[in-house]
Amino acid sequence: MIDVAFTGAQVRPAEMAVVIDVLRATSTITLALASGYERVLVAGGIDQARELAADGRVLAGEVECQRPDGFDLGNSPEETLSPRGPELILATTNGAPAIIGAAASCEVVLAASLLNLDAIIAVLADGPPDILLLCAGTNGALTLEDAYLAGRISAALEGDRTDAARIAEALAASFDKPLDALDASAGSVGLYAAGLASDIDFCAQESITDMVPQLARTIGDVAILEARSQTAGVPAQHVASTASEHGDS
Ligand code: MLT
Repeated sequence: MIDVAFTGAQVRPAEMAVVIDVLRATSTITLALASGYERVLVAGGIDQARELAADGRVLAGEVECQRPDGFDLGNSPEETLSPRGPELILATTNGAPAIIGAAASCEVVLAASLLNLDAIIAVLADGPPDILLLCAGTNGALTLEDAYLAGRISAALEGDRTDAARIAEALAASFDKPLDALDASAGSVGLYAAGLASDIDFCAQESITDMVPQLARTIGDVAILEARSQTAGVPAQHVASTASEHGDS
């Protein structure tokens, strides 16, 4: 059954969860791995991200769309195009918590964006019967751009689907092109206000990479994503301790 959860809080156990935060966390993760970062460490908050900082780790994220003080990068996908180290630490408002929530409840967790749409669909077409398309949303509310991508993915898959998936598909079908959906969304408002409108155009690009980020393991509540090809598609390993992430990853 293909199902859609419209906010991160609606996460439930699933054989395969696909986390969607088009603007911008899952777009950034996708592009970071495609650009050559070996892994992305998704942190539960800005303070935890700062604690994870170490040589070889690049600190990225946002608060109200802006790069936090002391961080190397914001949350613009294009900032990851030239890797500055092997590991990216990412802390964001909605996408990061959605990934961490999925990591705690779901067997396999992928990160989807428009940038890797075809590659995600190809994995899901061969995936398990129970697929949850988990939209991050914004501050507990549904966002159009995430629901749009959930609908695009769902519409491309065979099999039974929930009414939530049908609703997402109908929404997606109502837009001629991705940029129209992103531009109409609440998520774009904050980016325009922050002077980051070019990120909207960038994130609207479809299938520019075949990178599929997959949860490789968790250390405490830090979710570590790597290329699915590197994880061999196996379910993530979970380690309880957060004491010494550096070197364990
Ligand atoms: C989030 O996780 O809330 C988003 O990715 C926010 C953003 O940077 O646009």
